[in-house]
Amino acid sequence: MAKLNFGGVEENVVTREEFPLKKAQEVLKDEVVAVIGYGVQGPGQALNQKDNGINVIVGQRKNSKSWDKAVADGFVPGETLFEIEEALEKGTIICYLLSDAAQIEYWPKVKQHLTPGKALYFSHGFGITFNERTGIVPPADVDVFLVAPKGSGTSLRRMFLQNRGLNSSFAVYQDATGKARERVTALGIAIGSGYLFETDFKKEVYSDLAGERGTLMGAVQGIFAAQYDVLRKNGHSPSEAFNETVEELTQSLMPLVAENGMDWMYANCSTTAQRGALDWWKRFRDATSPLFEELYDNVAKGNEAQRSIDSNSKPDYREKLEAELTELRESEMWKAGKTVRSLRPENN
Ligand SMILES: NC(=O)c1ccc[n+]([C@@H]2O[C@H](COP(=O)([O-])OP(=O)(O)OC[C@H]3O[C@@H](n4cnc5c(N)ncnc54)[C@H](OP(=O)(O)O)[C@@H]3O)[C@@H](O)[C@H]2O)c1
Repeated sequence: MAKLNFGGVEENVVTREEFPLKKAQEVLKDEVVAVIGYGVQGPGQALNQKDNGINVIVGQRKNSKSWDKAVADGFVPGETLFEIEEALEKGTIICYLLSDAAQIEYWPKVKQHLTPGKALYFSHGFGITFNERTGIVPPADVDVFLVAPKGSGTSLRRMFLQNRGLNSSFAVYQDATGKARERVTALGIAIGSGYLFETDFKKEVYSDLAGERGTLMGAVQGIFAAQYDVLRKNGHSPSEAFNETVEELTQSLMPLVAENGMDWMYANCSTTAQRGALDWWKRFRDATSPLFEELYDNVAKGNEAQRSIDSNSKPDYREKLEAELTELRESEMWKAGKTVRSLRPENN
């Protein structure tokens, strides 16, 4: 495994040069990889493995759009596409890709099919880390590991088709066969990961829950809303407020930050913008730090996991979700955003 230096700290990383696809195919040649669930991650991981020559089958409940999608994607009922229990029976590696809430509900059935030597694979550390709440406790004689792509299943597939690779983290929780590490690395490569970064289940889920509630999704919407409201209260038009809050960021600045880093972006803007950004960023950091501390603490105490379990398992979950999404969609800021998006040259 390569040791790479990240800002002065050395970390273990698996590269495709060191663990090429041929090696992954060799490690997995006698395995039946059963991808259970054909939602968002399921299609990306199953199709990439199929195209990579891995013996992969899909387990999905029938009479569902996801079943139809699997058929449309080329999985054949009775040959490579089965009801969940049948796939659980046939698989030697069970990729447990139901939604995190459904994983809890389905666990008693999965457990029945985990015979000695099989492997249980996750793409999130949630079920195992919070097992006092989820009840997911695997038997001792199976391997348990994860590969968590750092992005959507849709991106995993798209990047694979473009000959690129999405980075993933990986972790071994239980090595019953002595081959867990080899198996998980082979799977990480086979699903189309670029680089594989080593972690453990707890760190994977804590960072993921903190990140999505924080800068990736929760905090960013909060900061957008706060700035937009202040601009509007001070007489700026919706289009001006939206452009200065969201559009310039997503269309111009973030792609540059993604390519070159923040210092480069600061160096390549007007001197006026530069002065202001350099003066203000630490104040924003200091103002939001206590909130991030509170967020991490809530994640570590299991409160965030419990809240997800409670809300996602309610029968009216989708209706309530739709009401919350409507609130965002119908807000002036995002309605203004819809108009601004429609005016982009590429949309005309
Ligand atoms: N979304 C991502 O891109 C992403 C990224 C990284 C990691 N992950 C992890 O990958 C795993 C899968 O996530 P996902 O987002 O792909 O899940 P998802 O899209 O919500 O997947 C739903 C799958 O679970 C099935 N399902 C839901 N409720 C069920 C039930 N009660 N009984 C049987 N099947 C049920 C769905 O079947 P129907 O369609 O028939 O309902 C579908 O196949 C999770 O551990 C997640 O944390 C996801």
